[in-house]
Amino acid sequence: MADAQGPYSQKVMEHFLNPKNMGEITDASGIGEVGNPSCGDVMRLYLKINDDGIIEDAKFMTFGCGAAIASSSMVTEMIKGKTVEEALKVTNETVAEALGGLPPAKIHCSVLAQQAIEAAIKDYKEKKGIK
Ligand code: FES
Repeated sequence: MADAQGPYSQKVMEHFLNPKNMGEITDASGIGEVGNPSCGDVMRLYLKINDDGIIEDAKFMTFGCGAAIASSSMVTEMIKGKTVEEALKVTNETVAEALGGLPPAKIHCSVLAQQAIEAAIKDYKEKKGIK
């Protein structure tokens, strides 16, 4: 049965229409940029990590579809306050689940979010000289 919100959950629509933490962090501790070559969407994630390894702030800039924007918004909310090691445990399934599910064709959008965390933390560790 068709309804006004189409294939997307309420949560996806909320985060797409009112994304949380959109923007840049100018003095970011780590930045991760990932893209999906097939759809051309790009997600950039900025992390501010304190001396205890806790993610104090996270922001994103995503040039992509609604599900990618909703995934970015959700992931910034999920990782704030976590340690980097905890953040690395956030998977695309966790993100998709928190969004109330994604249509099969949009699962790769949540994969971008997971890859963006990994890339941003890798950047942070490289800058800090952490193995
Ligand atoms: Fe590619 Fe959503 S369609 S990230």
